[in-house]
Amino acid sequence: MIDALRNPEISILPARQDDLNAIMLLERGGFPAAEQWSERSWRGELLGEGRTILIARAQHPVGVISIKTLGELADVHRLVVEPRSRRRGIGTALVRAGLERVRQHGVREVILDVGYGNEPAIALYQQLGFEQFSARRNYYGPGQDALILKLYDLQTWPDRIPVRVAEP
Ligand SMILES: CC(C)(COP(=O)(O)OP(=O)(O)OC[C@H]1O[C@@H](n2cnc3c(N)ncnc32)[C@H](O)[C@@H]1OP(=O)(O)O)[C@@H](O)C(=O)NCCC(=O)NCCS
Repeated sequence: MIDALRNPEISILPARQDDLNAIMLLERGGFPAAEQWSERSWRGELLGEGRTILIARAQHPVGVISIKTLGELADVHRLVVEPRSRRRGIGTALVRAGLERVRQHGVREVILDVGYGNEPAIALYQQLGFEQFSARRNYYGPGQDALILKLYDLQTWPDRIPVRVAEP
């Protein structure tokens, strides 16, 4: 659910093949160079089977999420919001919208990896009900550890997430 008071103009829609350039702008603007996905990786994502890729748009694309589904398990592959649009609920809205879609397709559990020190992303996912599942040393390269987070029982998930009431 998008926070209408903070983001009256944002819509969240499925990505199309011709969104690749816009996605690459988000990728390059949103991650440090060493962590960026290549255009080839994102093209593969857009063509891949079982993907839910959603873009948040205002006047221009401001964020994107990609989730891979395999049977009853989904894996959040990528989430990024452009720096100047952060802390407005857009990342949360993208994750909520993506999870709602895969939930409707029968997904029961969701897993993801996130940098051990990525506090913004970890806080966002924990607010949405993800729990620590495990940790992996050097997962992204030497000295770059990861947390593996899991959301259990997505089918009952919306009922378990506290509704946050926006301050007028
Ligand atoms: C992680 C990311 C997607 C969050 O997007 P966002 O639109 O700013 O997130 P939201 O506004 O929905 O924030 C939701 C909650 O997450 C937490 N959070 C977000 N940014 C935070 C920050 N910089 N510091 C601490 N907590 C933060 C807060 O609890 C926030 O709720 P609040 O604003 O009500 O306090 C964004 O920071 C980003 O694109 N980061 C770079 C890419 C990345 O790390 N992606 C995730 C791993 S693939």
